[in-house]
Amino acid sequence: MIISFEGIDGSGKSTQARQLIPWLEDLGKSVMYVREPGGTDVSERIRDLLLDPQISMDPFTEMLLFSAARSELVRSRMRTAHLGGDIVICDRFFDSTVAYQGGGRQLAEPRWLQQFQRAVTGGIVPDRTYLIRVDLATATARLGLRLGADTGDRMEQAGSDFFRRVIDTYDELARAEPERFLVLDGTQDIEALQAQVRQDVLAHMPD
Ligand code: ADP
Ligand code: TYD
Repeated sequence: MIISFEGIDGSGKSTQARQLIPWLEDLGKSVMYVREPGGTDVSERIRDLLLDPQISMDPFTEMLLFSAARSELVRSRMRTAHLGGDIVICDRFFDSTVAYQGGGRQLAEPRWLQQFQRAVTGGIVPDRTYLIRVDLATATARLGLRLGADTGDRMEQAGSDFFRRVIDTYDELARAEPERFLVLDGTQDIEALQAQVRQDVLAHMPD
């Protein structure tokens, strides 16, 4: 089973993803946690490039680098774990590219990016995707006013219009695939959110 967490920076994805791991392990499951971009030597090096505020790059290059990091992760680690029956928890997956590079950067049609991502992942699609929805003000407050300011990483420095487009694109993706996405109100407290995630995972977990 593959589970992904999506949402803008500061929505609470990592908090939810990390709380799921010990709970699944207590149920006797083998769990692999991956955070994108990253998770392999190559992908971590690409992450450093992508988030370095001293570097500027063309949006198409940016999309290819996020995709390259993902391709490496899927082919060198994720696919084996998935085929071996592990529950793979992805702290972001290809929907992030569609929302950030497609919506945020307005690089290409979401549909084209989705098709491209199918090649990047070799056709792997999460079984469940939890979209944690918060508005920009909430995310900004949680990140200590880093979003849209010139103190954050390269992606966080994109302006507020960028992040509004990312939010809108995530909403469109969730509307288009209601059978895969569960949209959660990320302004709820951490425990309430985790309870909804766990209930949904249980309902969809293979025997
Ligand atoms: P993300 O992985 O989406 O960037 P994090 O899980 O790292 O977000 O959370 C960002 C910040 O917000 C952290 O300081 C975290 O403790 C806090 N946080 C996460 N979820 C909630 C929540 N539901 N309510 C209030 N604060 C939260
Ligand atoms: P990270 O610090 O992991 O942010 P977060 O905790 O919110 O996940 O940084 C990853 C950044 O890269 C984040 O701003 C989202 C962005 N991103 C993309 O633009 N496209 C992608 O395909 C991925 C995976 C991430």
